[in-house]
Amino acid sequence: MKKGLFITFEGIDGCGKTTQLELLKKYLDEKNIGCIKTLEPGAAGLGEKLREILLHYDKPVSDRAETFIFLADRAQHVEFTLKPALNEGKIVLCDRYTDSTICYQGYARGGNIEELKKMNEIATEGLKPDLTFVFDLPPESAQKRVGKIKDRLEKEDIGFHKKLQKGYLEIAKFEPERVKIINADDSIENIHKKVLEQICGLL
Ligand code: TYD
Repeated sequence: MKKGLFITFEGIDGCGKTTQLELLKKYLDEKNIGCIKTLEPGAAGLGEKLREILLHYDKPVSDRAETFIFLADRAQHVEFTLKPALNEGKIVLCDRYTDSTICYQGYARGGNIEELKKMNEIATEGLKPDLTFVFDLPPESAQKRVGKIKDRLEKEDIGFHKKLQKGYLEIAKFEPERVKIINADDSIENIHKKVLEQICGLL
């Protein structure tokens, strides 16, 4: 039985979600609130190898193969990292999760969204985030924040990133209780304040 609190951080590449995750982790640590930070892809053992393939394999990868590798990573992550931490009552801060698959492999790559939802359900055994932050900013601004060395997905063009953004905004529209959009075109401190405002009631 899940007892902890599961919070995911989402958005297009370069949206600043990892910085915000780190700041929230620091805040919770200072208050001695038990929490862990984790990420997809690549958190749990086998996941590290899958991450290397997903981000750096330099020969063609079919869209369906890509989806299944992300899902294999997720299944491993749920089993060995997420469920144990949540069962111990911890707050879990997770950098990307199921919504990334819906947006990247669905909205941006053109995969069937309903099919992907079912695949997520199978990979996670139904484990859903309690709260999801989507850090939103124009893809043009986000691209400037991504460094010169880009991984396979960051190399996709601006059109790909616009579709991603649209996907995230739609998910938030469908699930407003769980998914909170945060305007990420702001200072790091202001964005952090907005994150804290959202989680205060939950702590
Ligand atoms: P990562 O280096 O972790 O970057 P980021 O800071 O943007 O999260 O790269 C992960 C990449 O994998 C990122 O471009 C999003 C992509 N991704 C998917 O396409 N599908 C998924 O299900 C997940 C979890 C990530």
